[in-house]
Amino acid sequence: MKVLLIGSGGREHALAWKLAQSPLMTEFYAAPGNPGIAEHATLVAVNVDDHDAVVAFCRQKAIDFVVVGPEAPLVAGIADALRAAGFAAFGPSAAAAQLEGSKGFTKDICARYNIPTGAYQRFNNAPKAKAYIREQGAPIVVKADGLAAGKGVTVAMTLDEALAAVDDCFEGAFGEAGAEVVVEAYLDGEEASFFCLCDGKSALPLATAQDHKRVGEGDTGPNTGGMGAYSPAPVMTAETIERTMKEIIEPTIHGMAESGHPFSGVFFAGLMMTAKGPELIEYNVRFGDPECQVLMMRLKSDLLPLLLACAHGTLDQVEAEWTDDPALTVVMASKGYPGSYEKNTPILALPAAGEGEKVFHAGTSLKDGALVATGGRVLNVTATGRTVGEAKDRAYALIDGVKWDNGFCRRDIGWRAVEREKA
Ligand code: AMP
Ligand code: GLY
Repeated sequence: MKVLLIGSGGREHALAWKLAQSPLMTEFYAAPGNPGIAEHATLVAVNVDDHDAVVAFCRQKAIDFVVVGPEAPLVAGIADALRAAGFAAFGPSAAAAQLEGSKGFTKDICARYNIPTGAYQRFNNAPKAKAYIREQGAPIVVKADGLAAGKGVTVAMTLDEALAAVDDCFEGAFGEAGAEVVVEAYLDGEEASFFCLCDGKSALPLATAQDHKRVGEGDTGPNTGGMGAYSPAPVMTAETIERTMKEIIEPTIHGMAESGHPFSGVFFAGLMMTAKGPELIEYNVRFGDPECQVLMMRLKSDLLPLLLACAHGTLDQVEAEWTDDPALTVVMASKGYPGSYEKNTPILALPAAGEGEKVFHAGTSLKDGALVATGGRVLNVTATGRTVGEAKDRAYALIDGVKWDNGFCRRDIGWRAVEREKA
């Protein structure tokens, strides 16, 4: 099978590493890819924003299957363009990708299908949003409606913070994404992520994970794309997984199909484990980054047939096997991230990874044959273990072998799970 993978981050490196192990794979391409992905696939310089160019490449190489990693091309309709040209693709249509692309869209689906989530209102002007916030009181959550690279959400513990967040949105701090604002109730509890494949009608639960969004140790400081993650999430039990499927995922699949936009791809449900049970914080329509990295380390089955089954509507005929061993990944980022940072700093050495260990490339490039850091999040140092604590120790031991002066990482990834293990 000839496969094209779209994307260039650590998530895509993990997908590439796993897909390349498939006995079904005959030719493997990635656009644009990165130096880690280049170990598994031929990198091609197709502009992924140019859907005609992607389709033309697929025709030229007679590609059988396209796997789309990130959300932006999905929201821009790349899966629609591929399917219209007769190519099988993993990932939702632009209409179904609104589950991630528009928070208001998702909240409306939740309301219509009785999916547990924080009570909310949508606003297109500041005075009405502020009046609602004053009426509700703090804590309260203010969200820019559209894609804002994880930065459009303010969890406001005070009224003043919430009112300022409304001004930020409508004054253009998040561009077009902030033209509409969702104000929602604050949910109290521990967060977890749940991943589930879907082919439009049936679902295949994958696994759970937890990430660390804040840049600083002890989960402090500004939000990032994620500084580390582990799987499974100890806070999610067999019972909460079953409730998540019944109360959240299944009604969403039904609702999307009924609204004429059946969802095919992966649901990444951000959940809050509240006193009442799991409630939906948000949906993403692609694998998490870096959550995907830990999922791929734990997946024993061949990934390619699972993703293909989503595209072909045959998900009820496949199964996924997982190792019970936890996996943990630590993100190494450029000093200054998530603010501004120096680019093209040299990475002089990477450690040799053993069994159950892997250093995924996220924001790296080759300059004159030498490896340099070009992104904010640069490497995902990943390991498995019999416990989260052991996976953590192995990941940090690997990090000692990274020779990169401009890099930093949090030293406490997995702390919640490790504390649980000690208790
Ligand atoms: P989102 O982009 O919607 O995932 O929001 C980013 C982060 O804000 C989430 O991962 C949560 O930590 C937090 N958050 C979002 N919505 C809520 C809520 N209703 N209550 C509490 N925290 C929230
Ligand atoms: N790590 C969070 C995300 O991929 O959105």
